[in-house]
Amino acid sequence: MDDLKKAYEEWQKKYQEKCPDKDEDFVTISGEPIKSLYTPLDLEGHNYLEKLGFPGEYPFTRGIHYNMYRGKVWTFRQFSGFATAKETNERYKMLLAKGQTGLSVAFDMPTIMGYDSDHPRAEGEVGRCGVAIDSLADMEELFDGIPLDKVSTSMTINGPAAVLWAMYIACAEKQGVPSEKLSGTIQNDILKEYIAQKSWIFPPEPSMRIITDIFAYGAKHVPRWNTISISGYHIREAGATAVQELAFTLADGFAYVEAGIKAGLDVDEFAPRLSFFFNSHMDFFEEIAKFRAARRIWARRMKEKYGAKNPRSWLLRFHTQTAGCSLTAQQPENNIVRTAFEALAAVLGGTQSLHTNSMDEVLALPTEKAVTIALRTQQIIAHETGVINTIDPLGGSYYVEALTDKMEEEAEKYFKKIEELGGVIEAINKGFFQQEIADAAYRYQQAVERKKRIIVGVNEYVEEDEKIDIPILKIDPEVEERQKRKLKSLRATRDNEKVEIALRELKDAARGTDNLMPYILNAVRVYATEGEIIQSLKEVFGEYKEKPIF
Ligand code: 3HC
Repeated sequence: MDDLKKAYEEWQKKYQEKCPDKDEDFVTISGEPIKSLYTPLDLEGHNYLEKLGFPGEYPFTRGIHYNMYRGKVWTFRQFSGFATAKETNERYKMLLAKGQTGLSVAFDMPTIMGYDSDHPRAEGEVGRCGVAIDSLADMEELFDGIPLDKVSTSMTINGPAAVLWAMYIACAEKQGVPSEKLSGTIQNDILKEYIAQKSWIFPPEPSMRIITDIFAYGAKHVPRWNTISISGYHIREAGATAVQELAFTLADGFAYVEAGIKAGLDVDEFAPRLSFFFNSHMDFFEEIAKFRAARRIWARRMKEKYGAKNPRSWLLRFHTQTAGCSLTAQQPENNIVRTAFEALAAVLGGTQSLHTNSMDEVLALPTEKAVTIALRTQQIIAHETGVINTIDPLGGSYYVEALTDKMEEEAEKYFKKIEELGGVIEAINKGFFQQEIADAAYRYQQAVERKKRIIVGVNEYVEEDEKIDIPILKIDPEVEERQKRKLKSLRATRDNEKVEIALRELKDAARGTDNLMPYILNAVRVYATEGEIIQSLKEVFGEYKEKPIF
């Protein structure tokens, strides 16, 4: 190494004399300074087996399966939902016909916040940013003609996750599919809601109780279901850096593991069904390093700190969505290119499931044409680029390995800081995450405004008086009225006495310590609505109020 060190220093001297860098910050999108060249010197003492290992083996840095995409490519899983269950059911059938291999439900804001479509706070939002689901009847229509034992379904739902999951289980029962046969995921990650997305309902304590009830119920009755999707996506979209996304997401994951253990569960009983959800942003190598570091950190903590014995508990299995916040309203077709690079980074980072954004998603929900291009992007990467031929092809790159180590090192500093603050919930209450994210977002925006970071079409290569000429999906306002009529007729035709008893029993259980899932299931089976169930729980748990930070 001494010869190399000497030669590198000589090279560096010539580099400075002959061709110094142009006046630019060579930093990652997160502000991480990047050297002009990486060499074996950056990996001095790098123990392969300790740092990397082999795919499918601890610490899984290079991938979670022995054969990765040579065995099975990632799931093409487009996040999708709009208007009523009818329109979304048609979109799902179109996507499945075009080769989508997993479903992913986007709910509208009233559903996300636990309101029925006829609640005053739902006005103007029904079916707008996702599909309106009020009851089991809507869930049955959403999956009409889609056999639930043949597809895996993700549901992006947090505060009311237990209710929508119960509707899905009850809908499968109506199809004759037992819960043991169901595979899919509920996002069910309330901590990132307090940190970033802000669509919370109950205070942290009852929220964590519901989440661990879901862990326990899933382990017993829905063994193939991923009971949480611990999400970094929204943290990144709120303005976090790659390291903050990595660190805050894994810190949330540790908090859920500790909550499960505190609730009396054996870590190997629920950990194999914890899953993750990350963002893939525009800094290609930073994203790949982030995913690789995430697998190694998670495996080590689960094995060494939490004493998980089952190797499946050590696996960090994740879904990726390409960065919505990297899309531009200007020259929207450029977003097809951005998404392709971000998707490639997710694949080279070893993702298990992927959503590729549509070029129009910065303007509206995707049209059929735009979402088809987005899905085809994944299929081109899978079938035409050759990147699936070998596992972790960038492994061993001096740069990628050095960046992976750096990401891990920086994340560990955040873990220490969060511990000093008293843990994740304490740190949330102190506004720590929110402040870190706000500062990072401000630094990024300053860089763009100072043209230190060029965004094509936005602060450089601008088309003056540009006309946006791509088709845009419009939601018919009649959707809201149609959904409200459906809800009215449901309330008039169901057995309201059974509904009343089910809601009363649920409230009694919420006051006690029983697992709430069986009570929520009973309520949805008699067509209690999401809003009625959430309202019953609010009367026992109250609502979360965020302490604003300035
Ligand atoms: N060798 C052996 N087995 C393999 C394999 C291989 N190479 N590849 C896959 N498999 C197996 C897996 O082990 C798994 O088996 P299991 O069912 O026994 O566990 C099966 O094949 C399916 O593979 P995966 O589980 O890897 O793939 P899935 O797609 O089913 O699951 C996941 C991926 C990440 C674990 C899961 O949690 C998931 O699908 N998550 C999706 C989350 C999602 O879509 N979120 C969208 C959120 S949108 C949002 O929030 C943003 C908005 O708010 C703006």
